[in-house]
Amino acid sequence: MRVFLFVLAVSCIFICAARAADPRLVFAHYMLYANDNINVLKQEIRLAQSKGIDAFALNSNVWRQNLADNMYQAAKEVGPNFKIFFSADIHKDANGNLTPDQLVTMLTRYETHPNQMKYRGKPLFTSWLGSDDSWWKDYNYSSALSGWNAVFQKAGGKNKFFYVPFFPTDGSLGGVQGTLDKFKDIIDGLFAWDTSAWPYFSPDFQNPSVSKDQNYLNACKAAGKVYMASPSPWFFKNIAGSCCSDACKAKDLSNCNCQVKGNYQGPGLWIKKWEQLIQLSPPLLEIVTWNDWVETSYVAPPLSTAAADVSGYTHRAFLELGQFYFNWYKSGSQPAITQDSIYLFYYTQSKNINVPADGCKVVYSDQLSDKVYVTAKLTGPAMVELRSGSATQTFSAPKGISTWSMDFQAGQQLATLKRGGKVLSTLTGSKLISNSNATHYNFNVYSTCTTC
Ligand SMILES: *[C@@H]1O[C@H](CO)[C@@H](O)[C@H](O)[C@H]1NC(C)=O
Ligand SMILES: *[C@@H]1O[C@H](CO)[C@@H](O)[C@H](O)[C@H]1NC(C)=O
Repeated sequence: MRVFLFVLAVSCIFICAARAADPRLVFAHYMLYANDNINVLKQEIRLAQSKGIDAFALNSNVWRQNLADNMYQAAKEVGPNFKIFFSADIHKDANGNLTPDQLVTMLTRYETHPNQMKYRGKPLFTSWLGSDDSWWKDYNYSSALSGWNAVFQKAGGKNKFFYVPFFPTDGSLGGVQGTLDKFKDIIDGLFAWDTSAWPYFSPDFQNPSVSKDQNYLNACKAAGKVYMASPSPWFFKNIAGSCCSDACKAKDLSNCNCQVKGNYQGPGLWIKKWEQLIQLSPPLLEIVTWNDWVETSYVAPPLSTAAADVSGYTHRAFLELGQFYFNWYKSGSQPAITQDSIYLFYYTQSKNINVPADGCKVVYSDQLSDKVYVTAKLTGPAMVELRSGSATQTFSAPKGISTWSMDFQAGQQLATLKRGGKVLSTLTGSKLISNSNATHYNFNVYSTCTTC
């Protein structure tokens, strides 16, 4: 008995210490579909790394081996510290779908690659969906559980991998517990996606809350699993011709390709979520996304050929501002501010605009606020002047990070930072706000900053 207790105590010294030492890392969801050359991929990796991002989670619903090889190779050429892992996207669309054998390849092909992301010593693997039995029945598995079991077995055994999927839940404690219980033998944690990234669906549309993240964290901890949260800067999607679809008319948000998620404009969702997640400190988090140009949740600059879709709507200010929060989350202490900077955010047409050519309005665009936002990150008190069209407001800004907004007017958007009557910097948005001649509804956010 005594020996047994001693063994327990000694194991705890090692195991508990290992747990306590789990590093806090920042991942970013990377849509793997553009055929960019290795030099572009290296630029993306260098930029992500310079901002404090540790790894890309490559998301694809078909097996693009050539693109995956290129990404691992690019990471290798940049150096040993930036890591790559997969987010297998388990849904079928016009491109096709991943087969179970291709999932095995995803697990094993880069297992020993120097840039493979490992967590607690094991290759990290995630998936986007994959808990739906019907998908697996096409491959003659009786359930998702038996399908995943077979995939891991073929890849060398479940214990070799650390698997943290997004299996949808309603975010309630019971809902998360049910999913953990059902899949406990094959998962090491859960990733939340919608319930974490865009916490807006009624009745909390007006007040984004962190309660679902809290439920995930509590349920995962109790089950001995890890929780991966999902901070996101924004979500707007308007795929041509989709606004009047039946799904959008019925507000079936999983299938409606013309919607905004949330009314929280400017940098609000991003800053608020990071503040909440730093408090909560989930073991893992994945920015959603690095480069989803279609759902406009990207933080990447338009280095990729696929970025042409967003025509100058840069989200660079989200990434620049994010760096402060990434470092805070990772280090556990608030970073010092060593440089004054300001950040400007707005969408470029009124939520009340009518665009007959685009048919129906964007679902939930009525919840938006026609405001321009300025965020100041300051080494000391200063004055921030915000000009929208012909209107101007002045704010007295303290040391630290603060955000103001004013109703926007059409025309130019501009912010000026002043201290002691002296202009320190001026920031002019390169996009005008205009309600004339629009050909489609567009509530993507434009952003810029003095360090962008
Ligand atoms: C599933 O089983 C059926 C009936 O045995 C067979 O015809 C089919 O080829 C199988 N499908 C796959 C993907 O193995
Ligand atoms: C809108 O189009 C009309 C007609 O082509 C043009 O005269 C006008 O300048 C345009 N307005 C804006 C704001 O671009």
